[in-house]
Amino acid sequence: MKFGHFDDANKEYVISTPRTPLPWINYLGSQDFFSLISNTAGGYSFYKDAKLLRLTRYRYNNCPLDNGGRYYYIKDGDTIWNPGWQPTQTELDSYSCRHGLGYTIITGSKNQIEATLQAFVPIHDNCEINRIILTNNSSSQQHLDLFSFVEFCLWNAQDDASNFQRNFSTGEVEVLGNTIYHKTEYRERRNHYAVYSVNRDIAGFDTSREAFIGLYNGFANPEAVLAGESRNSIAHGWQPVGSHHLKVDLAPGASESFIFVLGYCENPKDQKFEAPNVINKKPANELLAKYQTDEQVDQAFQELKDYWSRLLSTYTVHTDDEKLNRLVNIWNQYQCMVTFNMSRSASYFESGLGRGMGFRDSCQDLLGFVHLIPERARERIIDIANTQFEDGSTYHQYQPLTKKGNADIGGGFNDDPLWLIAAVCAYIRETGDFSILDEKCAFDCDFSRAVPLIEHLRRSFRFTSTHRGPHSLPLIGRADWNDCLNLNCFSEEPGESFQTFGPSEGPVAESVFIAGMYVKYGTEYAELCDQTGLDEEAAEVRRNVKEMETAIEDAGWDGSWFVRAYDAYGKAVGSHTCEEGQIYIEPQGMCVMAGVGVDDGKAETALKSVEQKLETKYGIVLLQPAYTKYHVELGEISSYPPGYKENAGIFCHNNPWIACAETVLGHGNRAFEVFRKTCPIYLEDISEIHRTEPYVYCQMVAGIDAPTFGEGKNSWLTGTAAWTFTAMSQYILGVQPTFHGLKIDPCIPDTMKGYTIDRTFRGVRYHITVDNSAHVQKGVKSMTIDGSPVEGNVIPPVQDKTDVNVVVTLG
Ligand code: GLC
Ligand code: GLC
Repeated sequence: MKFGHFDDANKEYVISTPRTPLPWINYLGSQDFFSLISNTAGGYSFYKDAKLLRLTRYRYNNCPLDNGGRYYYIKDGDTIWNPGWQPTQTELDSYSCRHGLGYTIITGSKNQIEATLQAFVPIHDNCEINRIILTNNSSSQQHLDLFSFVEFCLWNAQDDASNFQRNFSTGEVEVLGNTIYHKTEYRERRNHYAVYSVNRDIAGFDTSREAFIGLYNGFANPEAVLAGESRNSIAHGWQPVGSHHLKVDLAPGASESFIFVLGYCENPKDQKFEAPNVINKKPANELLAKYQTDEQVDQAFQELKDYWSRLLSTYTVHTDDEKLNRLVNIWNQYQCMVTFNMSRSASYFESGLGRGMGFRDSCQDLLGFVHLIPERARERIIDIANTQFEDGSTYHQYQPLTKKGNADIGGGFNDDPLWLIAAVCAYIRETGDFSILDEKCAFDCDFSRAVPLIEHLRRSFRFTSTHRGPHSLPLIGRADWNDCLNLNCFSEEPGESFQTFGPSEGPVAESVFIAGMYVKYGTEYAELCDQTGLDEEAAEVRRNVKEMETAIEDAGWDGSWFVRAYDAYGKAVGSHTCEEGQIYIEPQGMCVMAGVGVDDGKAETALKSVEQKLETKYGIVLLQPAYTKYHVELGEISSYPPGYKENAGIFCHNNPWIACAETVLGHGNRAFEVFRKTCPIYLEDISEIHRTEPYVYCQMVAGIDAPTFGEGKNSWLTGTAAWTFTAMSQYILGVQPTFHGLKIDPCIPDTMKGYTIDRTFRGVRYHITVDNSAHVQKGVKSMTIDGSPVEGNVIPPVQDKTDVNVVVTLG
């Protein structure tokens, strides 16, 4: 069943009922100020950091779900309704929600009044704009009351949700004219406040939640709205809110707009006040002056649209498959940008309180956005490298505001260092900017010990080389990519964190997955050394890589697939000798991507085993058979009920690894099939089963062992976005940035006749036509550049041209 449709011309998903299977959300903001907004206008806003600088309050895991947002109430006689249905849940005569790129437009109508909420964060300002347009479609004059509502968060979202003995006494506001200022803690150590304003004269306002809603009412029936008048309340402690009351008279056919702005403002420390305890309103006045008229709002909105069109034009494909086009050209790249902005902090599954920026997560996310915003990818790499330790190991996470490693979780996740090599190589292949290797990067943020970035990569590689176990395979430490395979943890007490309990190092437990990574990214590192004249180092790295391949062949091969790991007793994990968890997806994907076993048929056999043992109709599960018992020697993975999360869920992140691996073997049909099964756009018709947004990937779909097989969870913030874009744009459609130029090497279904791609690469626009009238799955027969035939399939760097036409014939 569908709950809406894609509008590709406008790059929007149009939701046609507020009762979606779960809240379907969107993100507003691209720089510092961000908001989450659901299809019923739920969600919240923050400045830079979802934990520390949260403007509005949100209650996760509430009942009803998705409770709290920017709510606009319309009182029309005795009928009170919201354009987005929530929170009054008054039945609407019509409803639609358009989630677009960086904006959301919700329109509802009731009794011939139409109300539209247009929400976006302008490119250059720290605010969310909510333009409400009310239209009278009836034949008589209408008198309406419009009430706005947001609930302020007392900045630190964690403290806000727990420290009530203090927080019930600290709330402070000011009101001047149409503007409400939330200034809790501004008197003392903060120099920022929030502002909520409307561009019209108001009939009243409220800033005390109790006054506006009433102690025992809820968002659905605020007393002030029921009464049709504000209380003009000033909050002293308790729960500060912002609400405006506007009286609206609409002639038949008339429309009026109301521009609300929720903003974040800062003052220099010595200019905080304009009078004793009266905040300096200069930054607020400047901000609000920019959004007083419809023309100003239209212009800011157009700027936002242009920003996105420009960004997404970097890679555009035209195939016969409109779903594929939609995924690549719009939603996948959009999701990559959202993961760039959010990492794993704030979604409807990530509360914005816990995880900072994951080291491995951020490195992998970069694979999906480096072509869109290379300058910011560069900054990100340097921030990440600055947190590395001198021995090449890394913190598992760092804090976005301080950019320091997160000591609470520490290090010991032994795949982390190698992801830095992956990120840096991807960046240089995209940009050709080798100068980044000379950039001085600190160790553990100590800049007195900064060394060039290339030295960080060297230490990443060396860390794995020198931390190996009894089978010469890499030691796993706390965990590798699979955070939940905790082989040194041995936790018996509820509540102990699997991620941090027990020793961070163990001398025995090893990871075949890291071994595969070492081969793949070691080889990339060797190529990088070739490019920079480090010939001896390149040779040495290749020798090490070869040794690791041998170790995989000796101890990492189970007969029909790659072993996953060895536990702390030296017993194989992910082997036919195991009772549960006999085969895992990760080493099959990573080892084959690395080229291990390609020559001797092991790769072919491993991928066949994946198809036979792990494949389901909704995608490939992480392992089989699912763990039914808690295995203390394996940790968190066996804590999940069978079929969920890492315990045999369909972990969307590593499905594209298998798609990539299939292309290494030339299996275009199969690669596409793997891609299609987890792609949300192809699942739109079963939204009642899949439940999460059909326009973005989720982290996990319940696996075959789960009672809710096919149900998605944890949408938006997942490495799946970047890996899918990599799999599709590079491995399948075959446009691959290399150190020397763009390589074209498609591996596609043989039914695909051909396609065109427009790709901006190092400032040049390439118009690439792929002709597959031969109906093959892989193999470039010939290539022309601006009409002239060339040898091979790498487009050499172009100098004096802005546009280049490339025709690639497969055969
Ligand atoms: C989550 C984490 C990621 C990890 C994966 C598998 O997506 O963010 O770092 O690799 O789970 O455990
Ligand atoms: C949980 C999740 C896993 C995530 C880890 C790190 O274990 O299941 O996916 O990577 O937490 O926070």
